[in-house]
Amino acid sequence: MPIHSDFDWNEFSHYWQIQKDSTYLNHGSFGPSPLVVQEKRKELLAELEAQPMEFLIRTTPLLMAEATQALAAFLNCERDNIAFVPNATEGMNIVAKNVELIAGDEVLITDHEYGSVLRIWKNKCRQTGAVTTLARLPKTLDTTEEVVEAIFAAVTEKTKVIVVSHITSATAVILPVKEICDRAKKQKIIVVIDGPHAPLHVDVNLRSIDPDFYCASTHKWLSAPMGTGLLYVRSRHKQGLQPNALSWGRSLQGDTPSWTDEFHWPGTFDPSGYLSIPTAINFFKKIGLKRFREQTHALARYARSRLLEFTTREPLSIDSDQWYGSMITVPFDPGLAPDLRPGEPHPLQKWLATEHGFEVPVFDWHGEWYLRVSCHLYNSPEQIDRLIDLLRAWTQKI
Ligand SMILES: Cc1ncc(COP(=O)(O)O)c(C=O)c1O
Repeated sequence: MPIHSDFDWNEFSHYWQIQKDSTYLNHGSFGPSPLVVQEKRKELLAELEAQPMEFLIRTTPLLMAEATQALAAFLNCERDNIAFVPNATEGMNIVAKNVELIAGDEVLITDHEYGSVLRIWKNKCRQTGAVTTLARLPKTLDTTEEVVEAIFAAVTEKTKVIVVSHITSATAVILPVKEICDRAKKQKIIVVIDGPHAPLHVDVNLRSIDPDFYCASTHKWLSAPMGTGLLYVRSRHKQGLQPNALSWGRSLQGDTPSWTDEFHWPGTFDPSGYLSIPTAINFFKKIGLKRFREQTHALARYARSRLLEFTTREPLSIDSDQWYGSMITVPFDPGLAPDLRPGEPHPLQKWLATEHGFEVPVFDWHGEWYLRVSCHLYNSPEQIDRLIDLLRAWTQKI
């Protein structure tokens, strides 16, 4: 498939400083910040070091309020429903710690969920006598109804919580979270959305989705500094929400109490990452959110079509921007699958990274091999073409 678009693929790449010998097709794992965000963070850190009392005690609370306001507007929710957390993992741990479960309750998780999220909920279930149950999604995602039905077919009268990704990690598919929340509400089931890939990647409208909890990382697609994320909490769950590590739980300068006090003074910390989030939001707004989504989806679609040339296996979804955005996972058999230690990359992934500077995850998902490509504004069709050439060379080599 030729790439049908007239984007100037190099228009925005100079806003980043990706290492010259690296072809970075893995924004989905760790998203580098554009230079403007890095500069903002440096400025804030310099201010902190120049007068820590002034910056941490008197300035930070005001800037945190502005930053949460900017993020809430971006995600279409009230400022008072979100708290900053260092990443989606921390947010998910907070939710699991606070949700009340008793023996016999069920926590329903789909078969596309992230490994550490599954671990967090299995741990919670071990502590409470609850159990996790599994909803298997269709092999190739096609209609919203089929996906929602696959989840609710696994619901029983004991299901208390549904944990579901907005955009999945390994399979990179966008799940119909609004429809899931709407149906769960009727059955009084709490929905926890694992959304670290979603902000910017897709339009996250929390007022419309209306989940109980939404955990996200702003250091992925939104490209804010590493160590920044958010926890959205529906109003009725806010009161008394406990953090993972207790600190003062109140303002250090006598501000009006808020549920976010438990999270916004986690002990002495570096707030510069959170305070740089508005710069990241403004950066992408200037480029245009529509432009970002159209350009990166066009590239992901191109990568998908080229990668599918290598396989006769079925794709994970039909070809539609309903099911994937800027990141695509495609079946790919890399051969040579020796016994790998947990977490150890496949030899193909190592070869791409160390011999050719290409960062592309190659992994086993439920016993079959896949390859995931993330497309951001610094990526181009030429990079995809080079990846295809390398994969062809690899398949001829093995
Ligand atoms: C679906 C999903 N959930 C949770 C996480 C954890 O995100 P973080 O490492 O930012 O906490 C990831 C990370 O890739 C993910 O893909």
